[in-house]
Amino acid sequence: MKTQALVFDAYGTLFDVYSVQAKCEEIYPGKGEDLTRLWRTKQLEYTWLRSLMGRYEDFWKVTEDSLRYSCRFLGVHPGPEQVEELMLSYLKLAAFPETGQVLEKLAGVPRAILSNGSPDMLEAVVRHNGLTDQFDHVLSVDELMIYKPHPSVYQLAVTRLGVAAKNITFVSSNGWDASGAKAFGFRVFWLNRQGSPVEELAVKPDAIIKSPLELIDAV
Ligand code: LAC
Repeated sequence: MKTQALVFDAYGTLFDVYSVQAKCEEIYPGKGEDLTRLWRTKQLEYTWLRSLMGRYEDFWKVTEDSLRYSCRFLGVHPGPEQVEELMLSYLKLAAFPETGQVLEKLAGVPRAILSNGSPDMLEAVVRHNGLTDQFDHVLSVDELMIYKPHPSVYQLAVTRLGVAAKNITFVSSNGWDASGAKAFGFRVFWLNRQGSPVEELAVKPDAIIKSPLELIDAV
């Protein structure tokens, strides 16, 4: 099968959402790891819940709401400065170490991001990591006002790239996103860094990789 375009998930795939842990730990010593994990879990939950409720708010708002909930759950009460500091750290998430190298090696294929992130958040984190020139498209769910894994989100990549779903290779570290993309019709590589089991969602990725470096030979 020919890959005519590569489409990447952003958070957790290209950018390490757990790179906020040092900042969380600095502000709340002893709670950094729990806060980082709960923040991400609630952030995703809120995207799904808001989509089901038909009450879209952009990913910046969802990220702040999930931060506030997680802090309260852990018994801490951030003031406006702490909220701002933690939120700004989301614009400076570290790219995983192999990200730049993999994107450069695959420069012969059109490359895009397809993410829940709002356009401003994506622009900031891509620029912070010096990756602006590596992408032909940075696509956000924001114009659709619904989150992954709604099929309309994956359709956005087909429409914008002008490439049929079966010729798009989609890469995500989020197992549920890989399932959503496969159900839609992409060729899917699940980047499974942790060795987690495949989601029980009745669709399986086409390939499971442990490192994005494996994409270089596979695409
Ligand atoms: C994204 C979420 C799924 O970047 O991490 O779309």
